[in-house]
Amino acid sequence: MSNGPATRSKLPDVGTTIFTVMSRRAIEQGAVNVGQGFPDYPIDPDLAACVTDAVAAGFNQYAPMEGNVRLRAAIAAAITAAGGRAVDPESEITVSCGGTESIYSAIQAVVAPGDEAIVFDPAYDAYDPAIRLAGGRCIHVPLAAPHFRYDWGRVRGLLTQRTRLIIINNPHNPACTVATAADLDALAAIVRERGAGDRPITVLADEVYEHVLYDGRRHQSVMNHPELRGCSYAVYSFGKTLHITGWRVGYCVAPPELTRELRKVHQFNAFSIAAPLQEAIRLYLERHPDAWRRVGAFFSAKRDLLRARLEGSGLVLPPAQGSYFQLADYSAIADCSDVEFTERLINDAKVAVIPLSPFYREPDPAMRIVRLCVAKRDETLLEAARRICEYSAARTGSRRSS
Ligand SMILES: Cc1ncc(COP(=O)(O)O)c(C=O)c1O
Repeated sequence: MSNGPATRSKLPDVGTTIFTVMSRRAIEQGAVNVGQGFPDYPIDPDLAACVTDAVAAGFNQYAPMEGNVRLRAAIAAAITAAGGRAVDPESEITVSCGGTESIYSAIQAVVAPGDEAIVFDPAYDAYDPAIRLAGGRCIHVPLAAPHFRYDWGRVRGLLTQRTRLIIINNPHNPACTVATAADLDALAAIVRERGAGDRPITVLADEVYEHVLYDGRRHQSVMNHPELRGCSYAVYSFGKTLHITGWRVGYCVAPPELTRELRKVHQFNAFSIAAPLQEAIRLYLERHPDAWRRVGAFFSAKRDLLRARLEGSGLVLPPAQGSYFQLADYSAIADCSDVEFTERLINDAKVAVIPLSPFYREPDPAMRIVRLCVAKRDETLLEAARRICEYSAARTGSRRSS
């Protein structure tokens, strides 16, 4: 059936995201939800109190378009405290509606009709549609399981005169990998070779999981790279760092020229972000300046708990280096597509997880991997693991007896 002109879709192939679909199915099935990436535990009561304080203090009207001035100063201070470069809050930081809006605004600011943007699959689902809405072409470069390492030679081979943007996600959702210093150097070399001319390459670094790093790893940010800092947008999320995904507050750090262009889009898109929530975060950072330092250990304990409880389940768990997810190879339990496996798991084990194939433009049909979120109460993780172990024992046991 063809659509009439009034309903012609600009994104005809885009449906509801797999995350929303699986969360909806989890409710329908009464399943334990370790699929979608959001915490199911309460927020710090001190943070909740900061909202009341902010509202009482009168932060109830439009916030400045660029973001609460003192919040931006606090962000700059936190960046320096974490060992990052000095950032000018006035000209280099913009508060956005979650990290998602920074990603969208940066893409609209950079990509013009006919331009090409490189993304690495598995890719977070917000990149491709935003590139296409800008009139650009999204070039998908696969990262192969199980290591998901960058092949920069391959990237080089895909560059054209139209390449305008390269998007990296570090730490990576859903691969749970982190980029190395050598990866950033290789990316910088690609940008350098193109030169600054009138068609430079801009980098968009999705660093929303910057603090969710495991086993003593340090985050390699484009912001601190001597070359990349001058040509990159770096995107962050208080949703991830303070466990408040529903507040929808994130920010973008970029040099003044790139920030100016981003704000031109942001100004007519979100315009400004919820005033009491920005002020509440500012107050909280003032009262708990080290809140972000606890994030790695907090999620690392949850990752370890889930991994320990899934031992013997038949799932093979590659080491997660960062992000608040854990991948699981289920090939010892079932030989079916990942979408089919997640369906079986939700129907039969009452556990919701996320298949990996929707993160790829061209998924490998032989891939047998699903993603579990560790940002859940310990009880949720224990129950999910118990149900998966039971399901697996029943299946592998019945296979043995048949
Ligand atoms: C890789 C990645 N980027 C960006 C986002 C969006 O962050 P926010 O919820 O702050 O919009 C997410 C959220 O899950 C994510 O996983």
